[in-house]
Amino acid sequence: MAKNILNFKCTSCGNRTSKWAGQCPSCSNWNTIEELFNDKFKNLRVMDGNEFFSLRDSKVDIDRLSTGMTELDLVLGGGLVPGASMLIGGEPGIGKSTVLMQVALGVALQNETVHYYSGEESKTQILIRAKRLNISHKNIKVSTLAQLEEIEKNIEKDIPKLVILDSIQTSKSDKVEGIPGSINQIKYACQELTSLCKLLNISLFIVGHITKDGQLAGPKTIEHMVDTVLYFENDKGNDLRLIRTAKNRYGSSSEIGIFKMTNDGLCQVSNPLSLFLSNSNTSLNGTSIFPAAEGSRIILLEIQALVAQSSFSTAKRTVVGWDGAKLSMLLAVLESRCGISFSNKDIYLNIAGGVRTTDPAADLAVVAALISAKQEFPIREKIVFFGEVNLSGTIRESHKTDVRIRESEKLGFKKAIISKNAKVDRIKTIEIEKITHLNEFISCLKNQ
Ligand code: TYD
Ligand code: MG
Repeated sequence: MAKNILNFKCTSCGNRTSKWAGQCPSCSNWNTIEELFNDKFKNLRVMDGNEFFSLRDSKVDIDRLSTGMTELDLVLGGGLVPGASMLIGGEPGIGKSTVLMQVALGVALQNETVHYYSGEESKTQILIRAKRLNISHKNIKVSTLAQLEEIEKNIEKDIPKLVILDSIQTSKSDKVEGIPGSINQIKYACQELTSLCKLLNISLFIVGHITKDGQLAGPKTIEHMVDTVLYFENDKGNDLRLIRTAKNRYGSSSEIGIFKMTNDGLCQVSNPLSLFLSNSNTSLNGTSIFPAAEGSRIILLEIQALVAQSSFSTAKRTVVGWDGAKLSMLLAVLESRCGISFSNKDIYLNIAGGVRTTDPAADLAVVAALISAKQEFPIREKIVFFGEVNLSGTIRESHKTDVRIRESEKLGFKKAIISKNAKVDRIKTIEIEKITHLNEFISCLKNQ
């Protein structure tokens, strides 16, 4: 099978070819093609795009490398994949540089070389962080370079196992227009680095800062170019940090990793089952417990609702940690299917601990919190709720029923209220109440 080495590159457009030519076949400029690698890299071969391969006979063997942090390995789908590019987004100051410095150490300790390019911080700032984290290793090569071509030259010369670019908004190339951080610059840098790292089998972390509204400014436009997109989340004033997968070509895209920011950097929280529950043993009006399925793990979340008489012409709905549109839908279902109206009530809905869930099974627990808050009765302790509410008011079964029940049981919960259609495999010590419709659910809530 003919294989080519793409070791020639046009200095004008960046196109890679397998042989030298006077004129670039891509941008037609003359004398712009240069040889990239010396003999040392001649064994780096890539398959010609024109060749077919059979899905039956081709083998794939991914040799993943641990980041040194099991929580991060989990969100990555099992560790770093050679040649894979990962975008890590988050607000300034949330801990991106900290976690990546820790990852650099994790990789360096496995006798691999890491390049850390920080166009953002001075040498002193980087050294202060490293000292604070107690990180010092000869395999971590740090540079404050921001010029893309210089970075590429270094990577090609050294071929490290992992490259960290902190951040994409500070990298700059003379080959494209625009100041650092502009869309052109960001797209070009991402394109160049991801293809170079793919070619050389290097894992690549790209840091992207996000704006206040939660969007990756500029980096949003490169999400499709990278293999994995991770977001850092936290609640203001809280030392918990969540890393959530938004896209992953090498694993599940619904995982979350849970960390705590401490004086010695980010520490993993490996058993988060009850992390977000308050320790109070008394039941309060408007509080219900939901066993959320976040990727491969279950986390018990406390849903809090406050319903108050509105003094505005349009009642207020404030939602933290959940989808506001979903709340409006549930209120409409409650009004039209159960005759319970919230039209002149302000509603505040919060998921305690600064965590956010998109698990559709939260519906039943949200309804429980809303009804308990409106009708002013506490929900009995040690009950969990899960199930999705249809527009007809019927309750749909949720995935992972068994695991949710098993994990709730572990924390001493005595009862689970779930959909009639849910299949529970074995008999549990926990009492299970199955319901079909919201009307039935509301009467069973009152008679707990
Ligand atoms: P940093 O990783 O610089 O954030 P980002 O790269 O996302 O902008 O994190 C900076 C914050 O983390 C800063 O407020 C100080 C705090 N921090 C700790 O609490 N403990 C530590 O060990 C370190 C290194 C930082
Ligand atoms: Mg930083």
